[in-house]
Amino acid sequence: MKPTVAVYLDNAATTRLDPEVLDAMLPLMTEQFGNPSSIHSHGRTVRTAIEKARKTVSSLLNTSPAEIFFTSGGTEADNTAIRSSIDTYGLTHAITSPLEHHAVLHTLQHLEKQGAIQLSLVNIDANGHFDLAHLEELLRQNRDVYSARSLVSLMHGNNEIGNMLNLNRVGEICRVYDAIFHSDTVQTMGHFRHNLQQLPVDFIVGSGHKFHGPKGVGFLYVNAERVKIHPFMYGGAQERNMRGGTENVYGIVGLAKALEITYRDMDAHRQHITGLKRRMIERLQAQMPTIQFNGDSADVENSLYTVLNVSLPASDMSDMLLFSLDIARISASGGSACSSGSSLGSHVLAALPGIDPERGYVRFSFGKYNTADEIDYAVDTLVGLYQKELVK
Ligand SMILES: Cc1ncc(COP(=O)(O)O)c(C=O)c1O
Repeated sequence: MKPTVAVYLDNAATTRLDPEVLDAMLPLMTEQFGNPSSIHSHGRTVRTAIEKARKTVSSLLNTSPAEIFFTSGGTEADNTAIRSSIDTYGLTHAITSPLEHHAVLHTLQHLEKQGAIQLSLVNIDANGHFDLAHLEELLRQNRDVYSARSLVSLMHGNNEIGNMLNLNRVGEICRVYDAIFHSDTVQTMGHFRHNLQQLPVDFIVGSGHKFHGPKGVGFLYVNAERVKIHPFMYGGAQERNMRGGTENVYGIVGLAKALEITYRDMDAHRQHITGLKRRMIERLQAQMPTIQFNGDSADVENSLYTVLNVSLPASDMSDMLLFSLDIARISASGGSACSSGSSLGSHVLAALPGIDPERGYVRFSFGKYNTADEIDYAVDTLVGLYQKELVK
């Protein structure tokens, strides 16, 4: 039966605010309204709330508060790491992958177009795994031929196909070649534990709305022992001169509360969400024998447990898939593998060798509020939509 409230299976796009987070934010939207840069008591109260939030984030990530800078979200944090490190260190070469989020890919492509850098893309295989021997070759070439340092930006968890990168391995390779290493950790922050005392990274990032916090707030971790960058956003002296602009105070407090909750409940939520993902894989495989899954997303133990990228049989349904799911009151995303002429084209799928543009693609992404009934409804709906192909 069609549910009365739409089923939300798009948690990699954004997540529902946790009511505990809202409770933490409300005082900063009402009685605690001072400007944190003001030295009077109204300002000081709010400044204290920001610094408490910074301490919460830094202690969860096992680093120092001086290495956490609040931003307007993941996109700004990625831009800051990339643009400010290139600017500060005069870097002329960057390495990334074709599977990055546009916050990284478009930023680097823009810098390449301006002539500021030369951009190299690391090779990938059919499942979207990065070729780390190729990464080393690119780093070696840049060091030996141009005597130059590189910036490496490779994501920790892919938002479309769920692939995960071994940050330790890549970080160690970067250190051998004295490269600066930024990783877009937007999809893993709040879902996996990051221990920054041990991770060989220079920059990682977080975005509040991906882990049941508010939208429009994120943070950048800067490894203070290894990198010192110029600001990206100039203006006031906020964020210790690193990011001008009056702080999004309730956002910052909400983000810290949301991260605290995800760390507190992570094991139980991971188990719950992993169970939902397994259930969807098993039920789809049982009822749709030609179903395939993209990237590593069906490898439940070794991918983002929140993401499943499904490849459906070729059909005249393919173009209408997301629309048909929406009509059935299921919110999911993904889109076709064909990027020409379609606003739903996925550059990630299009970059994967061997993807068949005739098939239908949908990304389901799960969260703590999803239920087994919702998964069953989504599976039944997909099976219903593809009934004609299944009896062929
Ligand atoms: C991997 C990745 N990086 C960056 C972003 C951008 O984050 P924000 O929405 O906070 O700007 C997203 C959000 O979709 C993402 O999934």
